[in-house]
Amino acid sequence: MRNLFKTLVLVFLCHVLLAQNPQIIRGPYLQSISPTSGIICWRTDVPSSSQVSYGENLSAQKQKVNLPDLVTEHRVTIHHLSPNKKYYYSIGDGKTMSKPSEARYLKTVPALGSKQQVRIWALGDFGSGSANQKAVLQSIVAFTLKKRPDAWIWLGDNAYSNGKEEEYQARVFDVYQQDFFQNTALYPAPGNHDYAGKHDPALPPYFKIFSMPVNGEVGGLPSGAASYYSVNVGQVHLVSIDTELTEPSGNQLMDGKGLQFEWLERDLKANKLPWVIVYFHKPPYSKGSHDSDNESDMKRMRENVNPLFEKYRVDVVLAGHSHVYERTHPMRGHYGVNATFDPQKHVVAKEKSSNHYVVGKDGQGVIYLVNGSGGQLGGQKAEWPMKSSVYSNNKEGGSMIFDISQHRFEAQWVSSLGDVKDHFIIEK
Ligand SMILES: [Fe+2]
Repeated sequence: MRNLFKTLVLVFLCHVLLAQNPQIIRGPYLQSISPTSGIICWRTDVPSSSQVSYGENLSAQKQKVNLPDLVTEHRVTIHHLSPNKKYYYSIGDGKTMSKPSEARYLKTVPALGSKQQVRIWALGDFGSGSANQKAVLQSIVAFTLKKRPDAWIWLGDNAYSNGKEEEYQARVFDVYQQDFFQNTALYPAPGNHDYAGKHDPALPPYFKIFSMPVNGEVGGLPSGAASYYSVNVGQVHLVSIDTELTEPSGNQLMDGKGLQFEWLERDLKANKLPWVIVYFHKPPYSKGSHDSDNESDMKRMRENVNPLFEKYRVDVVLAGHSHVYERTHPMRGHYGVNATFDPQKHVVAKEKSSNHYVVGKDGQGVIYLVNGSGGQLGGQKAEWPMKSSVYSNNKEGGSMIFDISQHRFEAQWVSSLGDVKDHFIIEK
């Protein structure tokens, strides 16, 4: 009798569970937004089918994609979109759909090679759950109110302390969901905390959560590896590389050899766009919370990878890891420690006015930026600020906004209080 009662209760509970509407517990978030397609992802508490309804008009989302498989990790690709266009969308299982919202849209990137100006938001070392993380977010919400970013790039250490699923949820998705995840094209890079000390990409949640455009979907040379890839947005070539990966051969990027290094060289060589930003986690130069004079990975990046950046005239190299902001002069050939920096020898730049560079036929040096105070903040090593630094700040958090058109590249470091504390322009 007691067993029969237990069975009936169980059947009743299963019935209640199956009958309930699936609740969205993560997302929606956008991935691999090309000029004509995009992936919309979300997670539900119980398995359900997936439907995305979409259209150019908020209240008339007439097109739809429905996938009947019952899943909790929903990943729906929509195709045949037009470049540089806003599509409002709703998600659900087809029976129950989310309410249309002004903030829930997918904007395709401009057609490849487009000359229209684009805006990029770069954020580093952010998912710490700190007050600084929230202040930096609010500063960018206000800063981009009238001009939203066309792409959002991450410089690694996205979720502290170990890049776990629950850390991504509480410190990343819950924080940026409303303002950015549901409407902004994201191109991430991983950091050491996302790998939690393991150097095998089969392990970190980072690679399960995100779908990188590794087949050249958004321009760039196909990499075939989620760790590293490139995209073309307007007139800028964005290259995301992985300083934490150890390849099965044992090679790391900073060895200056291996599959990733070879792909990076081929990709930079193949690029035809006027502007190049390469971004990754561990910087070649820093005196913030990490010291590039004596940390091997940083030292080897400088010695073995910087020559490639210089050879292919990369404009800006962006990194995090050190929880500060640092910007160097445009420079070449400085592979030694801080004390060996010699402006006569290493600075290669022509300034029209202060912080306004003009690039001639021979090119200019590479500007190295550390932008690692999007959540974490502070730290300084001996000899701070670096001799090669034009501007450094380890007291306030912040993140970077780039506005890039065919002949002009404008960079601003926006502090957590919303003011622009560093600003430079490059003209070509
Ligand atoms: Fe780091």
